[in-house]
Amino acid sequence: MSLKGKKIILGVTGSIAAYKTPHLVRLLVKEGAAVKVICTEAAGKFVSTLALSTVSRHEVLSNISDGSAWNNHVALGRWADVMLVAPCSANTLARLAQGICDNLLAAVYLSATCPVHIAPAMDEDMWHHPSTKNNLKTLAAYGNQLIPVGHGELASGLVGEGRMAEPEDLVRHLSAYFDKTTLPLSGKKALVTAGPTFERLDPVRYLGNFSTGKMGIALAERLAALGAEVNLVLGPTHLRPADPKVQVTQVESAGEMFDACAALFPAADIAIMAAAVADFRPKERAGQKIKKTAETLELVLEKNKDILAYLGSIKKEQQLLVGFALETHNEMEHARAKLQAKNADFIVLNSLQQSGAGFGTDTNQVSILGRDGSVTEIPLQSKTSVASAIISYITNDK
Ligand code: CTP
Repeated sequence: MSLKGKKIILGVTGSIAAYKTPHLVRLLVKEGAAVKVICTEAAGKFVSTLALSTVSRHEVLSNISDGSAWNNHVALGRWADVMLVAPCSANTLARLAQGICDNLLAAVYLSATCPVHIAPAMDEDMWHHPSTKNNLKTLAAYGNQLIPVGHGELASGLVGEGRMAEPEDLVRHLSAYFDKTTLPLSGKKALVTAGPTFERLDPVRYLGNFSTGKMGIALAERLAALGAEVNLVLGPTHLRPADPKVQVTQVESAGEMFDACAALFPAADIAIMAAAVADFRPKERAGQKIKKTAETLELVLEKNKDILAYLGSIKKEQQLLVGFALETHNEMEHARAKLQAKNADFIVLNSLQQSGAGFGTDTNQVSILGRDGSVTEIPLQSKTSVASAIISYITNDK
């Protein structure tokens, strides 16, 4: 998420929310954006243009001409990567919708070749007026991005809809917009599984494995960093992705993981099954703690459904499905068999014979097997770097 190097024109209009704009400019500049501010005459009554020029490090412009100098609205409109009108009063909303060009802000809006984002701010009754609704509809139809208003205390003292989105939300909105338009996996949906699964035996015990979920979490984070919308189905582990954009569904058993994946997979473009799923679960789950009365204890286990194989059986042609194979012997042979049997596009082979690879370590070393018989070695490095290499390879961005 970054606004680094982005050129932003901020149009400020006559609404009490204008008092928040120096803070907004400060946040934008902190994110690395260059900001030029245009104020309407009414905006100047609510916020100091001196404050805005100080934080933006640019002169604040208000009029089409200042004395004998003409402010080139066409050049301004072409300079920007994005124009944000925040707060946009009911009056300016109407002006922009009608194409009336009686101040610098409206002239820049009309000549802007960049996308325009509008954050309205007004009292609730004005917000609900049919004229406002029509103006919003018109502006949306012209391709402008409307930023939802908030609910809360208004200048009138009433509580309701019409508050300008908070400066932090506006920064998030613009960052998400740029991420969507510039990142290689923007618009793609990804599903990742990670971690172990636990199969309950009795109220205090389970069958599990040593997976920590590190590799799967690293893959989910890398996909999100490249712009994908990521759903991570995560088994029981104390680790969590650091990136808040990764949507986490927590599950415990293989059955729960199966249900979550079956629901999410149809919408996914990319699915990576990195979880160490339990192959078996106890046939009976004791309702009470099993006591150590006998010398031996026999457990009867039954097979869990294979998530990867199921997804492989319903996979559509444009979906990319990747499995992992954790092997201790005859690695290539077993991994190839899994690629075929589960109808995956790639199998990432994780060998437990290599030191520094496998469960719990911070590093990994894998081979990627393709359906065309190819084998690509990813040498020992941090799991984060291995994740990047895997994603680059499978998305064909080598
Ligand atoms: N997998 C799965 N559902 C299961 C078992 C495994 O989705 N019930 C997935 C894993 O997430 C991995 C791949 O299948 O992507 C291979 O897992 P692995 O444990 O290596 O192989 P298994 O198919 O379980 O076969 P085996 O245990 O006999 O090696």
